Amino acid sequence: MKKWSEIEKIIEQFKSADKYLISTPMWNFSIPYKLKHYIDIIVQPSYTFTVTDTGYKGLAGGKPICLILARGASYDNDSPIAFQKKYLEFILGFIGFTDIKNVFCQPMLADENTVKKAQDAAINNAKTIAAAF
Ligand SMILES: Cc1cc2nc3c(=O)[nH]c(=O)nc-3n(C[C@H](O)[C@H](O)[C@H](O)COP(=O)(O)O)c2cc1C
Repeated sequence: MKKWSEIEKIIEQFKSADKYLISTPMWNFSIPYKLKHYIDIIVQPSYTFTVTDTGYKGLAGGKPICLILARGASYDNDSPIAFQKKYLEFILGFIGFTDIKNVFCQPMLADENTVKKAQDAAINNAKTIAAAF
């Protein structure tokens, strides 16, 4: 059971935070496997979600979380192929997060001027979110 207690420690550490920041690149329209691995560790029944008569209920969350989403190209807010944002919002909602902010850093694979403009916009957006976070 040593392995399981290591999982419990990671979940406890996650749940003990007051607020959250996830900074991640888009990899193949989704998230890197290391972040997926972390999610697979912390999303566990009776720890971060439970099943009730009326369906699933998140047991984490109730705290603010901000996603920094870097992409090589640019995607619309509702792009059906931008699984990075869609998946993170879904799984975080599943474990109870309702206050989810986004900072988009895109396009990061472009000419120097375009990247600089995108970085400045992302920094400004991050500052606005941070002021009320
Ligand atoms: C393995 C891999 C897959 C990627 N897949 C995508 C993708 O599907 N769409 C996209 O727009 N950019 C993609 N990119 C580009 C990154 O999202 C982009 O360069 C980002 O700025 C990287 O952030 P980082 O410099 O913080 O690692 C990929 C990069 C790598 C290394």
